[in-house]
Amino acid sequence: MSTRIVQITDLHLMADPLSELKGVCTRTNLYAVLDVLRRDFGSAELLIVTGDLAHDELLETYEVLREMLADWLPKLRVIGGNHENRAFMRQVFGERVTAVDDRNVFADSIGGWRLIGLDSQLVGEVRGQMGESQRNWLVRELAVEPQSPTGIFLHHPTQEVGTGWLDEIRLEDADQLHELLPKNRQVKFICAGHIHHETMVFQGDVPVLTTPATSVQFLPETDRLIPDPIPPGFRIFDLEPDGSFRTRVVRVPISSAG
Ligand SMILES: [Fe+2]
Repeated sequence: MSTRIVQITDLHLMADPLSELKGVCTRTNLYAVLDVLRRDFGSAELLIVTGDLAHDELLETYEVLREMLADWLPKLRVIGGNHENRAFMRQVFGERVTAVDDRNVFADSIGGWRLIGLDSQLVGEVRGQMGESQRNWLVRELAVEPQSPTGIFLHHPTQEVGTGWLDEIRLEDADQLHELLPKNRQVKFICAGHIHHETMVFQGDVPVLTTPATSVQFLPETDRLIPDPIPPGFRIFDLEPDGSFRTRVVRVPISSAG
């Protein structure tokens, strides 16, 4: 029997409910996404939020988000992006977050799988960093159930996707993560956000996925940020106990009436 999990990313919520990012009202979009999740995917066993929760990094914004995600709280996991305040995240989502050093991470065993969330924020920078102590934590976590298929979630993509300005702001120490893969064949995928569009590239034979934002979409293969009018989205995974999985992106059209 498969286990269904959902990933949403790059919410860019702001305290002012009417605030827009590149012409997109991020709160309207998130409500629309959550409506579809509730309607069509409410039986999912985990909702993983992979960073850029609060664009303005305000406590009030995290509190609004907790309210918006109230019916998911028992199934919720949150990790940070470059737009984040780790202390506020812990304050508001306390029981949903595991703190390792100053980073907010998670590690779960579910449906025969291990799901691990990294905090790739490099405070003050747009690019990301895993860091040595978090790498050591990851090595220990990978050793907990080395026979269990494993998925790794983080905000920053670890692989280049072919869009230069975005490739420069990926995980700067991605090599440190990639070099763990040949020794940990149980890792079946790496999944990120940050670049606000869907991609899939391979590191060896491990797919490195990115997922559309719930907020504004970025046009791929550009030399700068150009908003893409394509609707926001999220990603579904169906995980099988034998280590196989299916994944797809679901798009959510936003009505102009908002
Ligand atoms: Fe973002």
